[in-house]
Amino acid sequence: MLRVPNYDLASQYVSSQNPTNSDTMKKIFLLAAMFVPLILAGSSMAADVAENWTKHCASCHGKDGKGQTKAGRMAGVKDQTDAQYQAGLKDDKMFTSIKEGLKDGAKEKMKPFKDKLSDDEIKALVAQVRSLKK
Ligand code: HEC
Repeated sequence: MLRVPNYDLASQYVSSQNPTNSDTMKKIFLLAAMFVPLILAGSSMAADVAENWTKHCASCHGKDGKGQTKAGRMAGVKDQTDAQYQAGLKDDKMFTSIKEGLKDGAKEKMKPFKDKLSDDEIKALVAQVRSLKK
């Protein structure tokens, strides 16, 4: 979103060129058309995972995944940077836990996020948790 000014720069550049030189104009338009979506896609994807983590997960798991928050200690979250803990996790199980929630008998440990997050967002969060391993 924030990169839109790049596009404006490109169009300014185009309008400063000789308007009869349509080849140059075409090339510049093509370049702009190719790059703008790439830049937008790249930046919004990266922001989403971090944003989702902060918004939905960090209250319990902590920004750093160590779970050293008040809610985290109460809920009994494990240290996600711990290699041994990570070794016991399975990607597809993590995915289901985030999507459908996690229960300990009747007690809910983690609520389901399927109404708040898309499958792709959940996949990105699984990768995010994996990246926390020391
Ligand atoms: C209400 C507190 C709370 C929130 C909010 C929360 N979790 Fe959890 N989460 C837990 C608890 C408790 C566990 C079980 C203990 C553990 O494995 O740390 C858990 C377990 C997990 C696991 C391991 C699942 C498994 O299969 O063993 C993953 C992965 C996870 N959480 C990711 C997330 C993500 C991603 C979010 C945000 C979308 C999130 N959690 C939000 C409390 C929470």
